[in-house]
Amino acid sequence: MQYYPVFLNKLSCIKRLPLLFTVLSLTLAFFFLAWVEVQEVDPYFKISKKDIRLRIPPGFPEPAYDFSKNKITPAGFVLGRKLFYDPILSRDSSTSCGSCHQRIAAFGHIDHKLSHGINGLIGTRNVPALQNLIWAPNFMWDGGITHLDLQPLAPITNPTEMGESIENVLIKLRKHTEYPKLFRKAFHQKNITTALLTRALSQFMALMISDSARYDQYCKDGSGFSAPESRGLKVFRMHCASCHPEPLFTDYQWHDIGLQPDAALSDYGLGKMSGISTDSMRFRTPSLRNVAITPPYMHDGRFRNLQQVVAHYNSAPQGFRGNDPLLAQAAGLSPAQQQDLLAFLNTLTDRHFTYDRRFIEPYNP
Ligand code: HEC
Ligand code: HEC
Repeated sequence: MQYYPVFLNKLSCIKRLPLLFTVLSLTLAFFFLAWVEVQEVDPYFKISKKDIRLRIPPGFPEPAYDFSKNKITPAGFVLGRKLFYDPILSRDSSTSCGSCHQRIAAFGHIDHKLSHGINGLIGTRNVPALQNLIWAPNFMWDGGITHLDLQPLAPITNPTEMGESIENVLIKLRKHTEYPKLFRKAFHQKNITTALLTRALSQFMALMISDSARYDQYCKDGSGFSAPESRGLKVFRMHCASCHPEPLFTDYQWHDIGLQPDAALSDYGLGKMSGISTDSMRFRTPSLRNVAITPPYMHDGRFRNLQQVVAHYNSAPQGFRGNDPLLAQAAGLSPAQQQDLLAFLNTLTDRHFTYDRRFIEPYNP
């Protein structure tokens, strides 16, 4: 009689084996997934293949940037994003690219006339917005840099910006707990080099494309503009577009727009680089996309708002020392035309761009 229940017990145990097995594997799976979750970034910040697909907006030219030498990949973009927001690139780990180039201001620096770098040092130029960089044949207010991949070396080594040497940045990255793995994942190379550092940053910056302002919608289907805005576009096309041509709103050329040089900064733009006297005060035309959210204005941030900019153009030719014939077109606007022009400039703000999930600094990059 006693033998019977034991036998029954054994039987039920065997019967329950599949159940036990399922419970065990579910527990294991749970711990495995939890572990993976800890390893990965928040899904919101994940970058998929779809996220990095390059889309040339209709009407835009072919990019100047040669992607055959630096193909964008999710791992390369994520690495570039981490580097862009990481103060490790500066000497005292205080300043990242993103400290000066703020996403919410189309990667310009709102309310700062001149850039602010390490140790509270003030630079000599206004921080420009970063957008549509793959179409630019040159960079900086004087166009002094001609390749996007070379651009990051300037702020890293500038004593008033990040004040660091490239060798030291590489040493810090090589010793870091995460970067060696991230570089290997992005570029399949063992060593972290200057070229790979700048290529990763370029992959991130290459996708900063602003093409979804209200202006773009209006160009597509003629919708969404108020009467002053569409009148303003006409004023713009007549008076400003020769130097700020659509769709990029810059000709990437150098012009003297009649600004008096600031004696303290002694910045003469192209003249400072070329040493040719007629190049003095010629600066590279900046794009006007997102212009309403990137005050202050001009290479030295001398104008606080767009009213002051338009007033300057309106009065420039009288006090103008004179080497750009295109400038005369920008003057002679009536007060009503100026109001319309200002209304139009506001339609260039692209919040799809500044709120784009891909460019937000992840809290667990
Ligand atoms: C201290 C502030 C500061 C920091 C930090 C900084 N920048 Fe800049 N950036 C500027 C200023 C100012 C300019 C314009 C410089 C000039 O014209 O001489 C500029 C220009 C640029 C441009 C050229 C834009 C154009 O349209 O011409 C790019 C691209 C850029 N920076 C990327 C970066 C990257 C990448 C980093 C990080 C490695 C970085 N910047 C760090 C202030 C900063
Ligand atoms: C002769 C060429 C030329 C014409 C015409 C011209 N611009 Fe400009 N614009 C420039 C250049 C060059 C700069 C940069 C000057 C500097 O910083 O020293 C500039 C700068 C600007 C800025 C400052 C942008 C920033 O990010 O700081 C605004 C705004 C602007 N222009 C609007 C206009 C408007 C509006 C008109 C028409 C009324 C106009 N421009 C006509 C060449 C021109």
